[in-house]
Amino acid sequence: MKDPGKLYVKTFGCQMNVYDTEKIYAFLQDSYVPAASEEEADVIILNTCSIREKAEQKVYSLLGRFKPLKDVNPDLLIGVGGCVAQQEGERILSRSPAVDIVFGTHNVDEIPLLLAERIREGKRICRVKEDTGKVPAAGAPRAMGSAGPTSLLTIMKGCDNYCAYCVVPIVRGREVSRSAREILDEAGFLAGNGVREITLLGQNVNSYRDPVTGAGFVSLLESLELLSGIERIRFVTSHPKDFSPELARSMADLSKVCEHIHLPVQAGSDRVLKAMKRGYTSREYLEQVEFLRQLVPDVEFTTDIIVGFPGEEREDFEGTLDILKLVRYQNAFSFRFSPRPGTAAAEMEDCVDADVKRPWLPELQELQNSITAEKHRDMVGKEVEVLVEGVDKKKSGLIEGRTRTNYIVHFPGDAALTGRTVRVRITDSRTIHLVGEMVN
Ligand code: SAH
Ligand code: SF4
Ligand code: F3S
Repeated sequence: MKDPGKLYVKTFGCQMNVYDTEKIYAFLQDSYVPAASEEEADVIILNTCSIREKAEQKVYSLLGRFKPLKDVNPDLLIGVGGCVAQQEGERILSRSPAVDIVFGTHNVDEIPLLLAERIREGKRICRVKEDTGKVPAAGAPRAMGSAGPTSLLTIMKGCDNYCAYCVVPIVRGREVSRSAREILDEAGFLAGNGVREITLLGQNVNSYRDPVTGAGFVSLLESLELLSGIERIRFVTSHPKDFSPELARSMADLSKVCEHIHLPVQAGSDRVLKAMKRGYTSREYLEQVEFLRQLVPDVEFTTDIIVGFPGEEREDFEGTLDILKLVRYQNAFSFRFSPRPGTAAAEMEDCVDADVKRPWLPELQELQNSITAEKHRDMVGKEVEVLVEGVDKKKSGLIEGRTRTNYIVHFPGDAALTGRTVRVRITDSRTIHLVGEMVN
């Protein structure tokens, strides 16, 4: 029998794409084994992101770099999937002659057929389906190479919110939830394969609704809580407009649901929040934070922030800085506003000069870094529960994992502890992670 070819999938963007990449490896595992690098691959797939302009440019510049690889290996096939593929379609084929296959976000499960068709018929292919509004394909069994104690699990696709800046509803289509039955089956399969922690994925998990029974997100969490083998449950992303007291209570009551929530605030000014069409005020947001903190005292918050939205003035920006100081996030992912084709904000006028806004993002990041550093220092001396995810790739003899509250911890230990939950005393703090030692 012929040796299987080698596949390299490069992933950009959010967890949705990470999950799709796992599916691509799984769908192709009969014909391709994972390649260690692009250079040794027979098939390279870029799973792309178009959330900001820079992310999209990166794809085109990478594709330029792949051309020489094709000169060395004329049989090399290059595919482009994900959100840029969904939005750009045929344009990718005309701009990048090295590309063989373009496939959209609704065509991921067709990838084995598309590769076979390309090899058989020799023609370049663009397959980008319109959103069918149908339930997303069930998660395929994971490729062996990606097996570990933590796993992502998509519970819904798409988004109906149309925040003014965001391309996701355009590239991922309407919001559709998977049935709880299917999600529980997949979680059970994962648990049977050694997974101890699952992260439920959706652009707005709070609006999850079982298409069969009509049950909501909290009811899904309650069912997953009963699943043996799974020790921890996380979820992203929670939209503040749909974050309910009921969900806050379930985070307090359900023992497997971790004490961490990613609650993107985006901005601290009500004027900007309104222009963004977010559907909450800064006060409502802070009330939610307070409510959850009362129920779950050690809960940690992370967030996303956009700096320099059209019309955002210095005063508005200072409102965002205030939110950072009040909430004291464990971490904040902050981005400069980037106009995206097809979104409402791309058409909005901006009366504030770009030069005025430029220093705002580093200013905000500096503030957040100092808060993160203080929070890390406050952890020193504490004893925490860590689920070991594997060895520290940079330093030998160390293993790493996460606390329930989402801190990353590195400590001396054996790789054989992977998948086990151990108690660790924090001895030191670094920029991105904590350092500790196991206690018996
Ligand atoms: N569903 C999530 C967000 C997914 S996109 C939510 O509702 O919060 C991830 C993050 O990218 C967003 O939270 C936002 O902060 C950022 N982002 C989205 N569009 C952007 C744009 N046009 N410019 C800059 N940042 C953007
Ligand atoms: Fe984008 Fe808003 Fe949907 Fe999040 S909720 S994916 S920011 S449109
Ligand atoms: Fe990017 Fe698409 Fe996710 S645009 S952030 S990969 S949904």
